[in-house]
Amino acid sequence: MSTNFVSIVLCASLASGGQSALAQVPLPDSPAIEKRVDGLMAKLTLKDKINLIGGDEGMYIRAVPSIDLPHLRMSDGPVGVRTWGPSTAYTAGIALAASWDPELAERVGRGLGEDARARGVKFLLGPGVNIYRAPMNGRNFEYFGEDPYLSARIAVGYIQGVQSQGVVATVKHFALNNQEYDRHGVSSDADERTMREIYLPAFEAAVREGHVGAVMNSYNPINGVHATQNSYLNQKVLKGDWGFDGILMSDWAATYDGVAAAKNGLDLEMPRAAFMNEKTLMPAIKNGALPISAIDDKVRRILRTAIRFGFLDLPGGEEQFSRYNQQGIQTALDEAREGIVLVKNEGGLLPLDSKSIHTLAVIGPNAWPAVGGGGGSSTVTPYGAVSILEGLGAVPGVKVLYSQGLPSLDELFNQTRFSASPGAGSQNRGAIKQEIFPNRNFTGTPVVSYVSQIASWKPLAWSEDAGIKKSIRYSTSYIPDVDGKHIVVVAATASDGYTLKIDGKEVMKQVSRENQGPQTAEVVLEKGKPAIIALDYLPGAAEPRVSFGMRGVEELIAPEALKIAAEADAAVVAVGYDAPVESEGFDRSYKLPFGQDALIEAVCHANKKTIVTLTSGGEVDTHWWINDTPAFLLNWYPGQEGGTALAEIIFGARSPEGKLPITFGRSWEDNPVHDSYFAAPVGEGQISRVNYAEGVFLGYRYYTTRHKEPLYPFGFGLTYSQFSFSNLKIDSAKGKDNQEFDVSFDVENTGKREAAEVAELYVGDPSAKIERPAEELKAFKKVRLHPGERQHLSLHLDRRSFAYWDANSHDWRVDPGQFTIMVGDSSENLPLNGSITIP
Ligand code: BGC
Repeated sequence: MSTNFVSIVLCASLASGGQSALAQVPLPDSPAIEKRVDGLMAKLTLKDKINLIGGDEGMYIRAVPSIDLPHLRMSDGPVGVRTWGPSTAYTAGIALAASWDPELAERVGRGLGEDARARGVKFLLGPGVNIYRAPMNGRNFEYFGEDPYLSARIAVGYIQGVQSQGVVATVKHFALNNQEYDRHGVSSDADERTMREIYLPAFEAAVREGHVGAVMNSYNPINGVHATQNSYLNQKVLKGDWGFDGILMSDWAATYDGVAAAKNGLDLEMPRAAFMNEKTLMPAIKNGALPISAIDDKVRRILRTAIRFGFLDLPGGEEQFSRYNQQGIQTALDEAREGIVLVKNEGGLLPLDSKSIHTLAVIGPNAWPAVGGGGGSSTVTPYGAVSILEGLGAVPGVKVLYSQGLPSLDELFNQTRFSASPGAGSQNRGAIKQEIFPNRNFTGTPVVSYVSQIASWKPLAWSEDAGIKKSIRYSTSYIPDVDGKHIVVVAATASDGYTLKIDGKEVMKQVSRENQGPQTAEVVLEKGKPAIIALDYLPGAAEPRVSFGMRGVEELIAPEALKIAAEADAAVVAVGYDAPVESEGFDRSYKLPFGQDALIEAVCHANKKTIVTLTSGGEVDTHWWINDTPAFLLNWYPGQEGGTALAEIIFGARSPEGKLPITFGRSWEDNPVHDSYFAAPVGEGQISRVNYAEGVFLGYRYYTTRHKEPLYPFGFGLTYSQFSFSNLKIDSAKGKDNQEFDVSFDVENTGKREAAEVAELYVGDPSAKIERPAEELKAFKKVRLHPGERQHLSLHLDRRSFAYWDANSHDWRVDPGQFTIMVGDSSENLPLNGSITIP
């Protein structure tokens, strides 16, 4: 690989704190760098070299004082420099993708680069570019959506921004890490075409166009072989086909076999050398199973990257940056403004006019405190964050009435009163019988048995013994205060399994491998009649953690929420997920968290001018209330400035401009992945597998080809104006083999206010020898136009825009024939149509 970076020292004037600072840009490949690497290599023993390929102190590359290699600090990303104290919290990746603005992505990258330098960080662990395959994946929010082309454009912008500040970006998680449940175990099984066309292009662009300095292998096996030792992906594709010559590091504890990883492309084991160490590698080197050249290559990559980014020459340049990054905060605000998507606006309810809307009810668990990001290693603590409540509260002339609307999860758990014995009556509420069995099948005499006065079912007496060898039965009863529907919630962790029975009937079950976030069920109970409850719980980790609570639906919604909804001129219901329930490490539910559907329904009923705002990493089940609400906004995880951006959009200071980077389906059953998302159960010792049976027909590629109507199509998003597309013209450009074209057309703002529109260009290949998706995004451009303004756009299509991956020749192939060209503002609304013939 040769980088395009220019070998200069930039004098960047940073608005942050009015400082100016030196930002260094990576040097291009050069014989001089390789020569310098040679010189350093000559000073290292084999032992030094092996030491260097294992991480240090959790977040560092080891220092080697004898060659002046400093301790190289890393930090988690991708939505902020999270590891070293408070930092700017940018929006989630999915929101950045919804901006459809690669220049904004570059600005975000620059902000991250500045934040990194202010903390002495040399490697940022981002961006994440795994494709959105199913809504439940707990980490969708970190990534850039379902389309490989859009993901690639955003990733390249982001990487160039980060690296322009002399910080190495780390594109992750390579590859096919499209679910969080059982992420170390499940093999993602996909054919070569599916990988090359859908799951790999964003990585490819990161390497070939973004010149990313580092790549992170994922936890999961791919086609049966763990990423860190997957020769096809690491050696053939990444380092061979794409020419990557930076560092391939493991995810944290994603290495499973030292020799296999060392042989098959892993350069750096993080966070430490648990497997790729002297003890494991030396014997393999001695007996010829592992060539020394493989170790040398890894060390060369680390040194080359360090030299290229100036780490051997300018350690400590970061002091010139401020940790509090004012310019970064402004970027985070712009990112939220550009990423929020308006998908429904019946009767033009939005924007609200503060002249007629004097009182606004703000209701729901996501209104306050600010929910800027999801959970796990991407969670950033900002210096300050604006919640939806505070954002709306700051709108001049509008009186805001607020209610949380529902209890929080902890409130529900702590306020549920149980009775260990059904006859005990309400004075004994809060008691739960816990029996811990010395086996996994709840049999024999319990080793511990006691009644505890807790509503949150965390076992009290627990020994050092691993929970994974035990089973726990919790028995109690619940005396309903009201008749009718009750909501039951169980929150367990990671790989726990459980079965919940009420009055002997199974109401919830979690198989350990399908580890989801908190789960909800509904049961109908009779007032005053004790319901007998039994939870059989199989801890999946040493420390069992399970909580449980229930409440009548009628008692769930705070009465004051309905009162203020009825009184106010309009209402905003802020619902969705947050870090404890949408996170790395486990999957989330497709259905909104407990009680939220009922809350939306109730508020919509109380106030006809109700706007629903959703905080999430993707689609949810909306069928309960979507027809009742006139306005629906997706704010994803909008970062620290989300509340301000949302208020500006709701009250019309700005037009919404985000476009969906995913297809928003009508139901989970409609999703092409529905039957293949969860691995089929396997026997002890066998590897569980997910077969990517939908192939390339994922997201809109499926919906458009199979003529299925989604709720909201990929690429869709409303503004407060209207746009028209006209004058399509296709010119042959002087490309290789006459396979390059320029597609030009006009976009006009025909509405009454300034707004941004994204022109999306899709290509179809109906005459291909194999079945291809009806349309695929191949170019786009965002424009900002005043009312009546028209702009002429020209988008370029190269040969790859027409190619598919041919499994026979193992290469990209263009079949001669006629291709369709479609331009418009979503995958379902493409008013301009033309064709191209490739001979
Ligand atoms: C995550 C990575 C992260 C790493 C370091 C892992 O659990 O999967 O994305 O960069 O931890 O915190």
